[in-house]
Parts: sequence; C-alpha cells; structure tokens
Amino acid sequence: MKMLIRGGRVVTASDDFPADVLVEGEQVAAVGAGLGPADRVLDAAGCYVLPGGVDAHTHLELPVGEVVSSDDFLTGTRAAACGGTTTCVDFATQFRGQTLHQALDAWHAKARGRACIDYAFHMALSEVDERILAEMDAVAAQGVPSFKLYMAYPGTMMVDDGALFRAFQRCAEIGALAMVHAENGPVIEVLVRQALARGETAPRYHPRTRPPELEGEAAGRALTLARLAGAPLYLVHVTCTHTLQRVREARALGQAVFAETCPQYLYLSEERYDAPGFEGAKYVMSPPLRPAGHPGALWEALRAGDLEVVSTDHCPFVMRAGFAGLPAQKELGRDDFSRIPNGAAGIETRMDLLHQGVVDGRLGLRRWVEVACTAPARRFGLFPRKGTLAAGSDADVVVYDPAPRRTLAAADLHQRVDYTPFEGLPVTGRVRAVLLRGKVIVEGGAHVGSPGDGQFLPRARQEVKP
Ligand code: URP
Ligand code: ZN
Repeated sequence: MKMLIRGGRVVTASDDFPADVLVEGEQVAAVGAGLGPADRVLDAAGCYVLPGGVDAHTHLELPVGEVVSSDDFLTGTRAAACGGTTTCVDFATQFRGQTLHQALDAWHAKARGRACIDYAFHMALSEVDERILAEMDAVAAQGVPSFKLYMAYPGTMMVDDGALFRAFQRCAEIGALAMVHAENGPVIEVLVRQALARGETAPRYHPRTRPPELEGEAAGRALTLARLAGAPLYLVHVTCTHTLQRVREARALGQAVFAETCPQYLYLSEERYDAPGFEGAKYVMSPPLRPAGHPGALWEALRAGDLEVVSTDHCPFVMRAGFAGLPAQKELGRDDFSRIPNGAAGIETRMDLLHQGVVDGRLGLRRWVEVACTAPARRFGLFPRKGTLAAGSDADVVVYDPAPRRTLAAADLHQRVDYTPFEGLPVTGRVRAVLLRGKVIVEGGAHVGSPGDGQFLPRARQEVKP
C-alpha cells in the first residue's frame, strides 16, 4: 500500500520546504517533488507536514496513593494521537518492595494491546539497594535504558543522596541515562508541616511550600553528584531560573546535562492557585507553577538550547465525581493541599501550545519540530526511526493546518479528565491528520485508529556526549 501526502510544506528540525511525502507500508519511502503514483492521496495543501510528536514524559495509569492517574494507555494515547503525538515514553514505576522486573511487567501489561500510538518506557525507581542496582543492566537490555530518581516525595518515591549517587554510578557503568525530579523533598516536608500547623490548607499553599530555590538547590546537588559519578544527567520538568542557572554552570564545566520543560511552565504562572474555591487544585503539580518571569526565561532557554525537550508530564486527576465513572480525585486534598494528587493533563495540547509559540514569535518553526519531535527522539534512542521525515523513517506523520483559530476547552479534548489547565487559551493551528507507521489514525479531528495500533519500542543504550 502506497500513500502520498501531497502538496504540503514539509517541516523537520533541519528543513522547511514544499514537498510530497510518499509512504510505503509502515515507512517513509521518499520526500520530494512530484512523487507518486499511490493507492491513496492525502491532500496537505496549505498545511505543514511534520514528523509525529514524541512526548518523553508521561504517567499513564500511574497509582498515586489512593488514586490512579485518570488516563490509561488507551485513553491517554488516543488523546495524544488527536494532538499530533505518535510516540510517548511513559515512566514504568517501581514501588517499594517491587523488583524492577515486576514494575516493567506491570507497565507492559497496562500498555499491550491498548496503546493507540507507539510507546517506550523509562524506569522510575523508588529505592536503590544492591538488588535494584543489580537488576538495572537487565532492564536496560530489555529496551529501557533510562532511570529516573526522585529527590522529592519523602516516604514514597524519594531516595537520599547516597542512593542517588549509587544509582548515578550504576547508570554510568551500564551506559544508561540518569534522570531526576529535582526538588528538595525533606525541606519541602518541613514547610508543608509548618503551613498546615498554621491552618494554611488551601491549594495556594502548594507553591508556597515548594519554592523555586528548592528546585534549583536540588538540581545543583544532582548535577554535582552526577558529575562525580561520571553520569550524564537529564533534568525533567525544569520550571525556574534557579535551575536554568545550574544547568548553564554545569555545561560550562563540560558536563553532559540535558533538560526539559513542559507547556504548563511556559504558559501558566503561580496566580492560578488563587482561583476561587478549590479550583486551584487543578494546578497542583510538582514542581508547581512559578511566579511571572520564570515562563519568559524558559522560552528564552528553549530558544537558546539550554532546554532541549518539551514533554508534558501528563498525569491527570479528575476534579468532579462522576466524570467517566471516576471519583473526585483532586478532592482528596480539599482540607489539606498536601493530599491533592499531584499532576495535570497535557498530552493532547502540547503540539498546539508549542505551535502557538511559533505564532507568537517565541520559537522558530523548525525549532518547534525539534523540541517536540526530534530532540526527544534523539535523546531517548528513537532517532531516526522517530522524530524526522526521511526515507526509511517510520511513517509517523502529522498534517498540521496552521490557520484555524480556536480556544482550548476540555469539552473539545479527548483526554479522560474533566478539565484542562489551558482552558480558554486561544491557539492558532490544529492537527488535520495523523499517520502512525503508515496507518491513518486521526482524520478530521477524530481518532479513526484502534487500540493496539501502538507498539512497544525497545530503545538501545546510547553514547552520550555533552
Ligand atoms: O506533579 C507531578 N509532576 N505529577 C506526576 C508525578 C511526578 O511527580 O512525576
Ligand atoms: Zn513526571
């Protein structure tokens, strides 16, 4: 079966030119002028033709305390597809007492036969001991060569500095990529306890007990430990100037450090927590949204290359009982902000929000494709199969119409959650069609693919250079 995507403007991280894309089976056969013939033609006139988006940070069906993030591998990846993302890298999460293989098996079971886009895994560790360290090499050999450690969430996911250092050493030994959630968990715990003792229980106290200084401090500490361990380090969800400064300092020392941010930190700021009633709970995520000033600095860092990837940290929880048969998950923290499940939704809106950065003159067109598709594919060993449009790449293609204007609204989205943090935000542009390995999975704004279209992508270890 041959398909021709005709008459569009092909945009990759390196090129931007009018061209057709010829798809043969599951792969791109050619990109150029006057291609054909084909069994099916998709008209892309007036549209950009992009590689499918790669979201390198998602938490689908993640148990968090008493609840589970509300998008599973079917609903979350279907929403991702509708938003132009054709690959996600989810965090297979090891909870205390589990082996890494138990965690990995559990994540394969959640995704297998259900995912609507291709998927890979990182492994998130909640403890580091000889047993876990010994398992890491085998997990990497099974296509999961990146390991995230949490410096936040004491008592559940946090590991101490010794454990962090040991895990970094092990990553260096086995050629895996270390990742960290950088926030100083123990100090945050003190601030949270003190706030609650003063009767400060509302969502607005979430950011006040997790100041940016504690992200910057943790990032600096992680960078020092990674440098001593000889391990390349990837900082997830960078939110503030404090961390950016640490990243720049480490780079100046020649350290291999890579950093991502997320659309919520580019578009939203701390005053969201002052929304009336309990509405601020919608924005309870960690790290929290930051005061005005930080988002502009993040855009600048994205332009300059200090930040290389934009992922979503998609981890939605429902506000109101009854939506999709789910309980009111965020309500768990109505009387105590520290009990609000942390996380927000964004898997479907990432490509549009970053395109809005192009419309607003904050990002170049090719840089949009780079941060949303190419850089995450490269960093996590999926390039050039994913993240570009070239002969031999998977035919993951997005036909993107840059013209339509609309306002983001949860009611129009496919994510299984009753709100979007971006409600009411005007955006220009929309996904018109999406192909996953040559199969049309989105057409006219609707998902036309099937659960199980997505395949597991085992990733190879990579040589990492600064
Ligand atoms: O608030 C967040 N980021 N929730 C997702 C889980 C995590 O911290 O990675
Ligand atoms: Zn996360």
